[in-house]
Amino acid sequence: MKIGVFDSGLGGLIVLRALARELQEYDYVYLGDTARVPYGNRSEEAIHRFLVEAVDFLFREGCALVIVACNTASAEALRKVQRGWLPRHYPDRRVLGVIIPTAEAALEGKRGKERVKRLGILATQGTVASKAYEREVGKLDPRVRVVQSAAPLLVPLIENGGAKWAEPMLREYLAPLIKARVDAVVLGCTHYPILKRKIRMLAGVPVVAQDECVPAKVRDYLARHPEMDRRLSKHGTVRLLVTDITRSAAALARRWFGRKARLEKVKID
Ligand code: DGL
Repeated sequence: MKIGVFDSGLGGLIVLRALARELQEYDYVYLGDTARVPYGNRSEEAIHRFLVEAVDFLFREGCALVIVACNTASAEALRKVQRGWLPRHYPDRRVLGVIIPTAEAALEGKRGKERVKRLGILATQGTVASKAYEREVGKLDPRVRVVQSAAPLLVPLIENGGAKWAEPMLREYLAPLIKARVDAVVLGCTHYPILKRKIRMLAGVPVVAQDECVPAKVRDYLARHPEMDRRLSKHGTVRLLVTDITRSAAALARRWFGRKARLEKVKID
């Protein structure tokens, strides 16, 4: 069986590329809901419905484990899917999100040095409003103060090839985090690793990027769950499925996944 990677669109290809590099032996099926992206400012109810459809589709495609690379879907709908829908429909499969592993990585970052006291989160409006990072960081270390900043314009800017114009927006979005004197900034959205060098420079503190921390967390998970690891096939294949293909989607996929990226269109609802 395979590892499914789900995202609202193509930003998750950045995490998939890191996974396929660092855990090369596994077989991956990527699903990007490009027909309905962005999820960042949709209702919780809509995101829950889309996530159920996507995970169900990936399970029917032969995935035993699905990683929800989309922060917005992880933040707004994952717990409900894990607690309600999954045990009823696929009790032997697993769906993991990116919020908990990213929160862990952010707090581990300073291990051996001074602990993180104030943590900045840069994310979409939906993720910020859900307070999912606050909740998960609070469970790991209730002493940490979480300061959030919603950055609604970054996804459309990055998707339209405008990263070079990001600086004034980043200054604005990072200002509340810098003012609160955070010790580290979490990039809580699939697309933000594209801007990580610039964000590192402007924030002046460690930046936690999911393409750097998620693969190690998945490796840990599989080491702790050998029963899951045994079910996963290991031929090093990757399929990229999307719910809509446009010319710009194909170009973005090549930019974010590599020249060989080939998108296949599927119907999931
Ligand atoms: N994938 C989303 C996330 O990580 C960003 C794009 C969207 O808003 O759908 O939050």
